[in-house]
Amino acid sequence: MTVSADTVSESDTIPVPELEQKATACAKRLRAAERVLVASHIDADGLTSAAIAVQALKRADIQCEAVFANQLDAGEIKRIAASKYDTVLFTDFGSGQLDIIDPYVRNGDFEAVIADHHQPAMTHDDNPAFSLQYHLNPLLVGIDGASQLSGAGASYILAQALESDTTETDNRDLAALAVVGAVGDMQSSTDGLTGANAAIVEQGIAAGVIEETTDILIYGRQTRPLPKLLEYANDVQIPGITNNESGVAAFLDDIDIPIRSDGEWRRWIDLTMDERQTVVSGLLNRAIASGVPAEQVNDLVGTTYTLTAEAPGTELRDVSEFSTLLNATARYNRADVGLAVCLGNRDAALIEARHLLQTHRQNLSEGLQWVTAEGTTTESNVQWFDAGGRIRETIVGIIAGMAVGAEGIRDDLPILAFAEKSETKLKVSARGPQRLVRNGLDLSTVMQEAASAVGGEGGGHDIAAGATIPINERSTFLEIVDKTVGEQL
Ligand code: C5P
Ligand code: C5P
Ligand code: C5P
Ligand code: ZN
Repeated sequence: MTVSADTVSESDTIPVPELEQKATACAKRLRAAERVLVASHIDADGLTSAAIAVQALKRADIQCEAVFANQLDAGEIKRIAASKYDTVLFTDFGSGQLDIIDPYVRNGDFEAVIADHHQPAMTHDDNPAFSLQYHLNPLLVGIDGASQLSGAGASYILAQALESDTTETDNRDLAALAVVGAVGDMQSSTDGLTGANAAIVEQGIAAGVIEETTDILIYGRQTRPLPKLLEYANDVQIPGITNNESGVAAFLDDIDIPIRSDGEWRRWIDLTMDERQTVVSGLLNRAIASGVPAEQVNDLVGTTYTLTAEAPGTELRDVSEFSTLLNATARYNRADVGLAVCLGNRDAALIEARHLLQTHRQNLSEGLQWVTAEGTTTESNVQWFDAGGRIRETIVGIIAGMAVGAEGIRDDLPILAFAEKSETKLKVSARGPQRLVRNGLDLSTVMQEAASAVGGEGGGHDIAAGATIPINERSTFLEIVDKTVGEQL
């Protein structure tokens, strides 16, 4: 394993030919609109999806405005219908709500165009009276929407179809945002992005906005002081390093890596290639010596993506830090700030986003501490915790994902996290291990069915899904989930 700055070869392939046709139809319909309402989801993928759509529409001279929602439920769609836009472009949601959107389209309330990657609620085959025609979703052409294409990726493919030959628009620069969205939805693994996502990366590289390198896979390469980077690394736990301030200091001293330069903290990006190699080798030796399993050791180095147009040392330069910055805005009702950053505001919006990031980080860290201290309750086939009002419902899913594999939390069982959404509603977030998904686990179906059975609603992806249920239905819901997961496996 070596840390290198080699970029992959340039290429200019079309992301997904199968999706191109659908994208062309969607683009044609959008061009016919006078103005478009872009409605999107309040997370990193949703924000980047909207930002890509807004820029592509503007470049095609189509007026638009963006709105965001936490969950696209019946009430939200009704509000959108009341907004008097004739054409609505749904990004990063919409497929899971086809059944609610379609009657509006049939009724002529608005025309819907959808660019999404969630499990569709129904198909043309289920319902012959189905009116909605403009639907771009990787799952419709056999591409996995949980790992091969994100909402931002779907939006990017639409942006490509919106390019105009006459004005020679080139939307490939928007690949940078598409990669932030995919990484924000956890679609990247040690080997980086794959499938349709990888094709988008190649376009971004060709356009000169993305660099793909092999580097240490620890969160915070651009902005964290080196000792904090190692101390806070929670993806790979290394005894004597993880959460051990003095251990980190001794380790860096031991391998002769200065932690300051001209009185300033050095960050990972300030290290020379040789120094990075020294740190990586040192960490690998430590990990192996303390018995960290080989597959976890291997996850310490992998494919990373850098946005080359962004200033070095900022959150925006690293796609992973960028996506966290966006979650810090949208999941706290400040999607406007995140969108402005995506659209290029590097002044007031970025300052505000950084401010929100402090709170988000604090909340993630406190939430994770609470979950690991509290532990989970284990049923036959799932484990769960109920954070009540302690964790914000918009980030309980991120915390559930981070908790898996942390001290005392099993990584071989799906995890369900509950948090209060309101006085009457409970939010559920579910995350499943990759191995179980390969063996038939589909949390999207589980959430959808179990939520329906108790008068709630749910959906998502096979590996990560969620639901909203009445607050007093937790135990019935859990019973159904436990049983359904058992049947799937
Ligand atoms: O609504 P949306 O599709 O954006 O949400 C995806 C969620 O699923 C993200 O919070 C992401 O963390 C989670 N996910 C995951 N593991 C994956 C894919 C997605 O935890 N492999
Ligand atoms: O917030 P977001 O879902 O984008 O975070 C993605 C991943 O980045 C988390 O699963 C976590 O491992 C890491 N992270 C972190 N420290 C933070 C924020 C995020 O380690 N302060
Ligand atoms: O909120 P969380 O990150 O747990 O969401 C995981 C996935 O489940 C997301 O893709 C989200 O869009 C989906 N979800 C859903 N219906 C809900 C709640 C979440 O489809 N009521
Ligand atoms: Zn998404």
